[in-house]
Amino acid sequence: MRCILLQPIEPASGSLKHCQKYSSSSCSAPNWRVYSSVRVDTGVTAGVEVGSVEKESLRAKEHYFDGWASRYDGFWTSLVYRWCHRLLLTHVRPADAVLDLGCGTGRLLGQMADRWEQMRGVGLDLSEGMIEQAHLRNRHSGRLKFLQGNAEELPFANGRFDALLCTFSFQHYPNPEGVLAEIGRVLRPGGRFYWVEAGAFGRTGSARMNITPGGLRLYSPACRAQMALAAGLGCAAHRRLFGPVLLSIFVR
Ligand SMILES: C[S@@+](CC[C@H](N)C(=O)[O-])C[C@H]1O[C@@H](n2cnc3c(N)ncnc32)[C@H](O)[C@@H]1O
Repeated sequence: MRCILLQPIEPASGSLKHCQKYSSSSCSAPNWRVYSSVRVDTGVTAGVEVGSVEKESLRAKEHYFDGWASRYDGFWTSLVYRWCHRLLLTHVRPADAVLDLGCGTGRLLGQMADRWEQMRGVGLDLSEGMIEQAHLRNRHSGRLKFLQGNAEELPFANGRFDALLCTFSFQHYPNPEGVLAEIGRVLRPGGRFYWVEAGAFGRTGSARMNITPGGLRLYSPACRAQMALAAGLGCAAHRRLFGPVLLSIFVR
């Protein structure tokens, strides 16, 4: 059973400035439980384990993005994403070892490698088609590598990266807590995680939308901060980049 669930939200007010502003209310437990129970209900109603539902969601995502990959950079959404990449890079500190999670065709890493000559990067994406495109477009093959994989199981040693970016991809993850645990593991102490995509409306809670295969999950600033904290990542800042697109910066 699929359903759209928009969580109860607080009216938005003012611009986003700092995480502490949200830390007291954070990802309110009742909202989050409602969200979780939707996932569980979905599995139970269909007579399938939640893990199987997640696997099915991953397969649906992979298929969806494989079909999109060769034309991805020409879509208007990608143009908006690229504009957000530019804005994001005004907030990113230079780093030597960078991971782009859900890298798509690898454009963001390419821009970073253009700017920072010492930088080495890895792009990981669930979709083989996206990774093929990233290889074709790679202008820095000595410094940038791309590989297919699932954000829930990162094939990297603990503390391997100085910075990890995730743009418009986290919303697709059926097991967000598992991915955050992996992010916390592969970042070195003091390393930074940059999370970019639309936030849920309001300051707390989350939202689920069935607008792509497997659905989208959006998270408010407080919800992001609370989930990341559980993975050992402290919130440094939230910034509105463009319209509803929210950058959240975390430090391991
Ligand atoms: C909307 S695209 C964004 C691509 C790129 N980050 C950008 O900003 O243009 C979302 C990407 O996330 C990838 N993705 C979705 N679920 C994933 C997962 N579990 N692990 C790794 N990548 C995933 C998709 O294959 C897709 O390439």
